[in-house]
Amino acid sequence: MIYLGGEAEVRILDEVVIKRRISKRYRIKELDEEIRFKRTRTEAKIISAARKVGVATPIILDVEGDTIVMERIKGPTAKDCMNKDLCREIGKSLAKMHSANIIHGDVTPANIIVSKGKIYFVDFGLAYFDSDVEAKGVDLHVFIESLKALYDDWEELRNSFLDGYLEFGSREVVERVKEIELRGRYVRR
Ligand SMILES: Nc1ncnc2c1ncn2[C@@H]1O[C@H](COP(=O)(O)OP(=O)(O)O)[C@@H](O)[C@H]1O
Ligand SMILES: [Mg+2]
Repeated sequence: MIYLGGEAEVRILDEVVIKRRISKRYRIKELDEEIRFKRTRTEAKIISAARKVGVATPIILDVEGDTIVMERIKGPTAKDCMNKDLCREIGKSLAKMHSANIIHGDVTPANIIVSKGKIYFVDFGLAYFDSDVEAKGVDLHVFIESLKALYDDWEELRNSFLDGYLEFGSREVVERVKEIELRGRYVRR
């Protein structure tokens, strides 16, 4: 099974996943390589950092150049088993990740795998470290927007997600999400 996204080629094997960051033709060759290698190292580092603070992520087995070899997490993505309880758990895990100032950058149901009752985050390709309330608020907002796009009962799911987040996360961040949602509404008018 091979996924080909805009940034990476992901091979799902039986026990491991091999993610290779693909080159951008419009970039100068040397610069392109430097960017890809650096981004790959950062992605692997943040996957491990999240694991260390108790957020379930795949074990990194190897990093070389533009390629990460990691443990394959067996199970459906959250996209295929979405419900209120799962959303609450996703909120809790994300709050734990944020308490270490890790911003995932692309929190969507497709980037979350459910395995043995645990919530695994994958795809840290856009992740970075930031302690700001705004960065954390945007991280939550991205997930809520993806719920809106995928499910009719997104509002219920959103509320469970935010309730879960509040169990470990700060109220300030949840208040900021509401502010971001209002900003969005004004822009559209
Ligand atoms: N460690 C893993 N174990 C199992 N499936 C994975 C793993 N990593 C990625 N996947 C699957 O591959 C898909 C694409 O990988 P991802 O890292 O999200 O690449 P992209 O940056 O192209 O979106 C994910 O949505 C997920 O379904
Ligand atoms: Mg992805």
